[in-house]
Amino acid sequence: MEEEKKGQNDNSQINSSPGTTQEKIRALEEQLDQLKFDHEDKEKLTEIFESGADNVNEQVHNFLKDMGEKKKLNHMQKKQLGKIAPLYDTHDFWDSQPVPKAHEKVTESDLDKPIDVEKTVDQIREEPLDIPPGFYWSNINIENDEECKEVYELLTQNYVEDDDNMFRFDYQVKFLQWALTPPGYNKDWLFGVRGGKKNKLFGFISGIPVDVTANGKHMKMAEINFLCVHKSLRTKRLAPVLIKEVTRRVNRCDMWQAIYTAGIVIPTPIAVTTYWHRSLNPKKLVEVGFSALPKDTPMSRFVKLYKLPAETSIVGLRPMEKKDVPVVTKKLNTFLQQFKMHIQFNEAEVAHFLLPQEWVIESFVVEDPKTDEITDFFSFYSLPSSILRHDTHKTL
Ligand SMILES: CC(C)(COP(=O)(O)OP(=O)(O)OC[C@H]1O[C@@H](n2cnc3c(N)ncnc32)[C@H](O)[C@@H]1OP(=O)(O)O)[C@@H](O)C(=O)NCCC(=O)NCCS
Repeated sequence: MEEEKKGQNDNSQINSSPGTTQEKIRALEEQLDQLKFDHEDKEKLTEIFESGADNVNEQVHNFLKDMGEKKKLNHMQKKQLGKIAPLYDTHDFWDSQPVPKAHEKVTESDLDKPIDVEKTVDQIREEPLDIPPGFYWSNINIENDEECKEVYELLTQNYVEDDDNMFRFDYQVKFLQWALTPPGYNKDWLFGVRGGKKNKLFGFISGIPVDVTANGKHMKMAEINFLCVHKSLRTKRLAPVLIKEVTRRVNRCDMWQAIYTAGIVIPTPIAVTTYWHRSLNPKKLVEVGFSALPKDTPMSRFVKLYKLPAETSIVGLRPMEKKDVPVVTKKLNTFLQQFKMHIQFNEAEVAHFLLPQEWVIESFVVEDPKTDEITDFFSFYSLPSSILRHDTHKTL
């Protein structure tokens, strides 16, 4: 398999657990695992961390910037630095939010404690937040094909692109309806911003309820996704308004935690993921610039390398069926328990999220032919991308 090259979603991890200056420096160094600090760097960082100044973040940011300019860095090192440095930027919005700051001391004893003043529902305003004149809030009935199509149009034109703007995620209508309507979903958490003469959708954000276990503690949370602002309204601080409005709506339901993933690095990730790809059509992937043909490798050899056998070698592999829901739920939750933070799925959620739907979600089980026991399970979802600059190939 091949590590994703296009960085559509490669978060970086920042460890916010250090206590002493040495630990902070070591944590920063670990984040930059391609880049080691020399004695002079460590002295400078010690000075910064121990200065007690208000602008520690800014100083670390400048230090990292200098480092990037002064040292001869290779590609990987530059990439690492590019992932960590943004955490030490000034964040007009996120710096005011209940999230850990990049250099903040978070020790074991802080875990499971509130990061914000605890509030009650009656302290949360009932009315939606103010929004710039000419625009208004609009709930989206995602189960309605017409309304879902409006979200689809917004996303297909304006959602996440890779770093080189060659591909853009093209989540399909059926996919959005599947992803946003799990059991117990809240219609009020799927909304956007409309405006103009035609009441066009200019922004969207979504939340769904999830059962999360963090450090053994169960919490009902919101999972936020599909944040998108139309390209014509970018950098006007509409995203923070959408985020604050979804927060208000979640809080009004007496929920006080949320999770999300992002392709950019903002304060402060608690986990990182790497996307891996198994090429199925290597010729096309090279043609559209998704993959590079390895040096001195003719296309014919590359194609042969990725050729799939006509039949699977796994005995008992078959698509998941309704009758498998209980055992898959059990196995999945047992598997997920190894992680300090994980989602817990009930049977209704497993049925919703994992029963196969063509071009949305595919799931397979392995049934032992001798015992009829389900021994294994895997799944994947279908997500095309628009190919933005190619004469013939339009969809990846
Ligand atoms: C993400 C997006 C909505 C941000 O809107 P924008 O017009 O670029 O930015 P705004 O001026 O409205 O807001 C900027 C603030 O939003 C934050 N922000 C930007 N992208 C964010 C994200 N993915 N998640 C959370 N916050 C984000 C910025 O950090 C900044 O806050 P800060 O000053 O505290 O750092 C917009 O760029 C977009 O639609 N991009 C394509 C889709 C996308 O990437 N969606 C997010 C998927 S993870």
